[in-house]
Amino acid sequence: MKIMKIMPQEIIARKRDGLALSRAEVEQFVSGVVSGDFKDYQSSALLMAILLKGMTPKETGWLTEAMMRSGRIVELPEITRPKVDKHSTGGVGDKISLILVPLVAACGLCVPMMSGRGLGHTGGTLDKLESIPGFRTDLTDAEYRAQLASLHQAMIGQSADIVPADRKLYSLRDVTGTVESIPLICSSILSKKMAEGIDSLVLDVKCGLGAFMKTEVEARQLAESLVAISTSMGKPTSAILTRMDEPLGHMIGNSLEVIESIDCLKGQGPADLMEVTYALCAEMLILGGIQSAQEGAMIALKSAIDSGAALEGFRSLIEAQGGDGTVVDNYNCLPRAENTKDIFLNNDSLMYVESLDARSFGDAACILGAGRASTDSIIDPAVGIEILKKVGQTIESNEAIARIHYQSVDTLEAAESRLEKAVKLSAEKPVVTSLIIDRISHEKY
Ligand code: URA
Repeated sequence: MKIMKIMPQEIIARKRDGLALSRAEVEQFVSGVVSGDFKDYQSSALLMAILLKGMTPKETGWLTEAMMRSGRIVELPEITRPKVDKHSTGGVGDKISLILVPLVAACGLCVPMMSGRGLGHTGGTLDKLESIPGFRTDLTDAEYRAQLASLHQAMIGQSADIVPADRKLYSLRDVTGTVESIPLICSSILSKKMAEGIDSLVLDVKCGLGAFMKTEVEARQLAESLVAISTSMGKPTSAILTRMDEPLGHMIGNSLEVIESIDCLKGQGPADLMEVTYALCAEMLILGGIQSAQEGAMIALKSAIDSGAALEGFRSLIEAQGGDGTVVDNYNCLPRAENTKDIFLNNDSLMYVESLDARSFGDAACILGAGRASTDSIIDPAVGIEILKKVGQTIESNEAIARIHYQSVDTLEAAESRLEKAVKLSAEKPVVTSLIIDRISHEKY
């Protein structure tokens, strides 16, 4: 029987008028985006109508599923370990994936991680990994599967045949003011993760100055929606809500973040970065059924760091993907900037660091060349910012707040002026709270 399709403008008008779309209409939209039956101007109009009128959980689920089915869906039946992945909504200095993947693989999970590149003030996992000489993020399907079978971990980029609908829709959203919509964000993130062949998923949903979601209310709404949709699609998912007001850890910039990640795997990680890493890893071990509770999970994770198993796992991952594994012992094989400059704040007495605006630090790193202003910008793996004093620490008049790693004086001056406005000092010791705000469990859904 021939199914009568309605015209794109009718679907757009229904959403414009605040009606819920049917499953068939949502599927027609997604297939039309890929085939070209929905023209860019029609897709853009529907995206704006979705942003303004919203979608029910059912519509969001259908959209996610239709997007997932717009391309190849990876299946990994040959992998017997629980396959669990992590996704972060993105922040500044967020290098958690580099630490977490070898760490949970050393504890018994398989992590088939597919990531994106950084855009704007937040960095991307692939960019960080590619600062390691030789590291390839474009493994063939056969290489990827063989590595998952032998090392239980792989970190690659999403190939063009996975969720092509998102590629098209994201590029339209980016230029039509339609990024900030919970149903569109949920379907974009989850369609890609669901196509990876995972059993379950842990999300790091960040809120604050350096995050996509600025308030806890918005971040919680996004987290609830993500957890509900992916759990309803048969992939138990939990989210941890975390603060992203100051950069995570001390390093921002691709090579610098690789160094800090390796330090973490050697047991020398900064407290804030390790707090969030351990929380996410513990959740992964529990969802994957390797551990039944937080306490046991923490013991397993700390023992994988103390024994060196997680560090050796990272070396094996680097070597398997064509990179120079000696980076683990010798940071000199990473690209380093020609120059450094320490930034002083001209305080004339001892003060406390009250806040470090993550967004401004991210923007400053981007100005130096560590991030992309647009998708075709070339990044410089060597540049970045080293934070010498974190929130809550004291700073003497002769102490620097940060060290800029730079190549040209022009970028230095622009980055420096951003940073000077990004730091607040106080005579009073500020209260430093946990970065973990809440955990939203799949058991609720
Ligand atoms: N990351 C994605 O992959 N998609 C969004 O819509 C937002 C963040």
